[in-house]
Formats: sequence, C-alpha cells, structure tokens
Amino acid sequence: MTQPLRQLVARRGMSLTGQVRVPGDKSISHRALMLGALAIGETRIDGLLEGEDVLQTAAAMRALGAEINRQAAGRWSVHGVGVGGLTEPSQVLDMGNSGTAARLLLGLLATHPMTTFMTGDASLVRRPMARVIDPLALMGASFLSRAGSRLPLAIRGADDPIPVEYLVPVPSAQVKSAILLAGLNAPGRTTVRETSPTRDHTESMLRAFGADLQMTDDDDGTAVISVAGWPRLTGQAVSVPGDISSAAFPLVAAAVVPDSSLVLEGVGLNPRRTGLLDTLIEMGADIVVERPREVAGEAVGDLRIRYRPLKGVTVPPDRAPRMIDEYPALAVAAACAEGETRMLGVGELRVKETDRLTRTAEGLSQAGVAVDSGEDWLTIRGTGRPPAGGVTVATALDHRIAMSFLVLGLASAAPVAIDDATPIDTSFPDFAGLMRGLGADLSAPETTPASGD
Ligand code: S3P
Repeated sequence: MTQPLRQLVARRGMSLTGQVRVPGDKSISHRALMLGALAIGETRIDGLLEGEDVLQTAAAMRALGAEINRQAAGRWSVHGVGVGGLTEPSQVLDMGNSGTAARLLLGLLATHPMTTFMTGDASLVRRPMARVIDPLALMGASFLSRAGSRLPLAIRGADDPIPVEYLVPVPSAQVKSAILLAGLNAPGRTTVRETSPTRDHTESMLRAFGADLQMTDDDDGTAVISVAGWPRLTGQAVSVPGDISSAAFPLVAAAVVPDSSLVLEGVGLNPRRTGLLDTLIEMGADIVVERPREVAGEAVGDLRIRYRPLKGVTVPPDRAPRMIDEYPALAVAAACAEGETRMLGVGELRVKETDRLTRTAEGLSQAGVAVDSGEDWLTIRGTGRPPAGGVTVATALDHRIAMSFLVLGLASAAPVAIDDATPIDTSFPDFAGLMRGLGADLSAPETTPASGD
C-alpha cells in the first residue's frame, strides 16, 4: 500500500528551551531483541525504541520462533528459543528500511540449517550486502541474491558451520556483529579483527547474556574479538539508554538557534558513539555532560547545551566510525558556523539509507550554503549568518536527511521543507512533537517553498 507523503516545513522562530528524553537507542534495541530471542528464559527490555526499524526486528524474531510481547510503552518481554533454536519462517522476512536489522539477522541465519527469504524497502534493496554475504559464505552459508549482492535474497544457513577468523575490510559494526552472531551457533571460536574501533554494543550485550567473548589487541593495534560457539545465553534485564544519534537533532538545533538552552536526559554516551559531541565542542558549542552514570553496562548522562556561535573545524577521518550517523546533522551545524568545516574519510555515507554525502551536499547547496565534495569528503563554508533556506528537500526514505534539513530550517532565513516526514518514524517516532514542545516551528505546509532544483 502506498502511503501519502507527509510534508513538513521548519521555520525560524523562537529559541529552543526545555528538558526532554529522546527515544531509545536503535542499535541497542535491535540487539536486545535478537539476543533475547536466543536466550533461555525471559529478557525484559525497558526503553526499547518503538521505531519502525526495531519493530521489523521484533516481527522477524517472532517469525523465527521467539515469543515477544509489548507490555507497556517501551517495556517489552522476550522469551527466547536458545542458541541454535530458530525455526524456518513461513513467510519472507521484510526488514523495511533497516540495514542493521537485515545484516545482523543474516548473521544469525547463516548458521541455522534452514532457508529464509529476506527483502526490504526501496532504500534497503539498494544497499550493499556483500560485506556480510562474503564472510558468512566462508562460514558455510549460501546465498541467492539480486545482482550486486542486494536484497531480496535467499539464505541457506550452513549445515556444518565453520568458525572463521575474519578481518573486517570496512569499519562496520554491522559486519562485525553479523559474524559474531553467526559464531554463536558454530563450533570453536569465531574471530573478527577490526582496524578502526566501531560501536561495541554487540560485544557488551553478548557478555551480559553469558557468552564467552574475548577481546585483545594485536601489536599493530588491530582489535581481535572472538566468541565461543554454543554458549548458554540467559535472559537479562536490558535498560536501553536514549539514542545519541537521535539526540543529535535537538542538540544541533540548540547549537544553531540563538538563545537556546536544552537538557537531553539519559543519553547513551558510549565512547564509540560520541564523535559528534567532541566535534561540536571543538566548534565552540557549550555542551556539558551532567550526572554521568552507567546503566546496564553503557555510559549514560544528561546533555546540557546552551547556544553559542560555532566556528568551522576539520573532522579527521578516524573519527568517522564514532559519528557515522551524525554527519548530516553536523553538516547543518557547519552550515551555520563561521568558516570552513572539512569532513574527511566519510565515504561510508554513500551506502547509508541514501547516498548521504550527495544528499547533504545538494540540499545545503540548494539552501544557499557553499559546499564542495569528493568521493569521501565534504567541505562546508559557513558565514556565521543564517543560511538562505527556501527549499524543499526530497528525503528519499532517509530519516536522518529528513530531520537534518528540518533542523536547518529552524535556523535559516527562509523556511526549509521536506517532501516526506514518514521516514522519521524509523528511528524517532514523534520527532515533530518533541521538537515543537521545545519551541520549534514545525508545521504541515500551507504553501510549500519552491523546490531548489
Ligand atoms: C549500526 C552500525 C552503523 C550505523 C547504523 C547502526 C549498528 O552501520 O550506521 O546506523 O547498529 O551496528 P555500519 O556498520 O554500516 O557502519
């Protein structure tokens, strides 16, 4: 069924003030459902993100045999089937817009001797799957996919899984996680090596559920992570912190709308996710972490931000894995800052829900911002004055592009519209309501600003 597009317009208005909690972390939510589905006993999850991406994972794990119930808002219960106990689903698994759901699930399926069909939405069927298909094939799984190793595909899990030792060629937590999850149902130890540290929620959660996980560093600094097959995983209580990747939007909004002052409560501050905070602080943002604490093995704190003018900086390539989802939001901060911001080593942006490098560069340029880009870099020259705005941006099934350009509109001279706010529901249900509660002027258009192209 085709849904009608939901246009939304952001206008410059009041400063943003208030104290809010952003939705639960998407990465942790997917993993809690998946590991809960493999554990014996009950896993109780609090603060689960009820965005579409995570709901697809819940539906898939149910289709594979787990019992999953929603008890109250954000409170879910999972009764798992035990490692190796997933059963062949009778229908195609539709992973919607979610690359994380698709890739991590392929890991689980790769070592279950059954056949599963998987598809996704118009964005997901364009995204590369070879990065997980290649290592999972080494473990004995076979695949029949569309040209270019894309969804839809069929996966036949290995009858006799082979534990591998695999160097992940691109910095990707999804690939690392897919292999480790596959290793749970393989004999011996499955080992992943990664040269740039990516988010480690899978590792932390595997340990918490009782897996035998070892982490060491090679002499050259490569991280070596291994998991022993056939552990007994036991259901856990998981408390999901706020998603720093969602906090990024009100955070950047407060950083670019004069006189703003916000507190974002209970945000996950895993050091492998906080590159945006480091970068905004280098740009001059006034951000303070209050009440730092640890919740269910993850660093958490309240983020207080007060508006202060920003200046351009160079963001080094090695920071990319720590803020890969935050570049579109950072680009908005850069467009409002004074001077040049150079983002280096950001080629992975091209294979996200859309080609985010191109989308960000084109949208900003249509909004009157000076932008240059290359294969894996983006340079933005801000003047310290509000960008012109006055465009309608096509979101093309990309939630973060949608939210980033709405934030731009809150600081631009003329309004910025997006052609469709529907994708925002994948990661940040009620984004518009939360932002309005802080004072943002977001509304359905009476008249839409002219398209910039
Ligand atoms: C994620 C890893 C990242 C990130 C995505 C979530 C995860 O993708 O962009 O939003 O939960 O493991 P890559 O592994 O492709 O870098």
